[in-house]
Amino acid sequence: MIIAERPFNVNGLSYTIRSAALRDAEQLSRLRVQIDGETENMDREQGEAFIDTPGFERLIQADSDSPRNLFLVAAVEDRIVAFSRCEGNQLIRFSHKVEFGVGVLKEFWGRGIGKNLLKTSIDWADSNGIKKMTLTVLETNEKAAQLYRKLGFEIEGVLKKDKILSDGSYYNTLMMGRFNE
Ligand SMILES: CC(C)(COP(=O)(O)OP(=O)(O)OC[C@H]1O[C@@H](n2cnc3c(N)ncnc32)[C@H](O)[C@@H]1OP(=O)(O)O)[C@@H](O)C(=O)NCCC(=O)NCCS
Repeated sequence: MIIAERPFNVNGLSYTIRSAALRDAEQLSRLRVQIDGETENMDREQGEAFIDTPGFERLIQADSDSPRNLFLVAAVEDRIVAFSRCEGNQLIRFSHKVEFGVGVLKEFWGRGIGKNLLKTSIDWADSNGIKKMTLTVLETNEKAAQLYRKLGFEIEGVLKKDKILSDGSYYNTLMMGRFNE
């Protein structure tokens, strides 16, 4: 789905949150690789499961056409610095749910971008009949988990030893959900 653009100004930084457009595909392809390399909080190591520009164009088109998907970007002037996606499910028995994912460039952390992407996604979900939003987050990613709790997500379960990181240790993943009741 496509939603209207929203302007923000946080600590002197002006940015907009808007639906991804086909012209963003090239930047998004590069941005995703950069964000994947900045922390170990995402699922991929840098460069893994690469999505090229045509791949992003297909994703943006499909998300724009689907009433159960929402692909948002945060833009500082013409530069895309963050993105989020809500992905619905084709199966009727899961049609009330969407899965949320987000990434913000490290240089732009702490300016409310992650929070405003999630708030905008929640507003969209709540006003479009979506009853449950789900996400997964590494147990050690306290900043993200804190943000999710603050915006109404609760922990539904823990996946033990879900990931192995570069230190050779195993890490748990929290499964979180937010209910629109
Ligand atoms: C996690 C992430 C999405 C947060 O985005 P952000 O734009 O940096 O965060 P915001 O400025 O919107 O802050 C949102 C909330 O995070 C929490 N937060 C921010 N900094 C924090 C810190 N140092 N310690 C604890 N909580 C913190 C607060 O709850 C804050 O809300 P507040 O501003 O009302 O206090 C972003 O840092 C990121 O993309 N990190 C790398 C990839 C990642 O972890 N993705 C999520 C995978 S589940």
